Amino acid sequence: MTAKPKVLVTREVFEDVLEYLSQYFEVTSNQSDVPMNSETLTLRLSDKEGAIITLSDRIDAVLLSRCPRLKAVCNIAVGYNNIDLEACTKAGVMATNTPGVLDDTTADFTWTLILATARRLSEAEAYLRSGQWNGWKLKQFLGLDIHHATLGILGLGRIGQVVAKRAIGFEMKVIYHDVRRATPEIEQTYRATFVTKEELLSQSDIVTIHVPYSSATHHLIGRDELEQMKQTAILINASRGGVVDDQALIESLRSGKIAGAGLDVFENEPKFNPHFLELKNVVLAPHIASSSFATRHKMAMLAAENLVAALTTGKPPNLLNPF
Ligand code: GLV
Repeated sequence: MTAKPKVLVTREVFEDVLEYLSQYFEVTSNQSDVPMNSETLTLRLSDKEGAIITLSDRIDAVLLSRCPRLKAVCNIAVGYNNIDLEACTKAGVMATNTPGVLDDTTADFTWTLILATARRLSEAEAYLRSGQWNGWKLKQFLGLDIHHATLGILGLGRIGQVVAKRAIGFEMKVIYHDVRRATPEIEQTYRATFVTKEELLSQSDIVTIHVPYSSATHHLIGRDELEQMKQTAILINASRGGVVDDQALIESLRSGKIAGAGLDVFENEPKFNPHFLELKNVVLAPHIASSSFATRHKMAMLAAENLVAALTTGKPPNLLNPF
């Protein structure tokens, strides 16, 4: 009997996912969930044929050159900016992600951030918890109305579309900008009107970002873009850190150039800019937009299915690089 291929699961996953993987592989899993630095990750991967990885595991040419047996890396995430795809292709390593299974949950959380930011929930709760509340006041924590407001979606991909769908219930005007204009059918289904980036920034009451991170989207929202937004508007980011220039955002929030921000992602996670903590007009979350029980389970299982397919048939369903 030939030995099973060795694979690594870099962070804690659900037991049934490990059981599934164990049918095919000799599995080493980091169930203690301690994050690995790149040297530890490289050492642990050096004798493995495959890996289930997460968005904090960087897979680059240097690591790949030291892991000659590696054939597949399967991200538990739809975003894959942690993987150098070109280096993977050169090294003959398949890379996969988990599209589709997290769209609804991520869109739901985007709405959590929109509503909490517009209605200043974090600020109001902190006030109540601190014991300062001494009764109802007419002008207490006045916020932004969501219903009938203009929602600007940057990136009308899978997640952006679900965010737009949810806006129909709030009777909003939905505008969007994307590098590629959507088909008339998609625009009609989601009642979304294509505008330029400048029009989107200047007309929206809520700007929400749903683009992948890459060199093309680095600081897509920076000082100039924030200047173009309404003073009463809020910015929501549940896509990737780096799409927004966090320092510029902090300055805009501090000076009241925009009214607020709801953020699930940051530059240099998890060491985000500490000045965010000094601001009352932000709602902050630790990269949990896809984190429902059902969805995180689906993501982990899909990554496992990709790994099994990659190492048994060479055809994983969510292959990102050409083979
Ligand atoms: C989470 O951020 C993901 O990309 O799935």
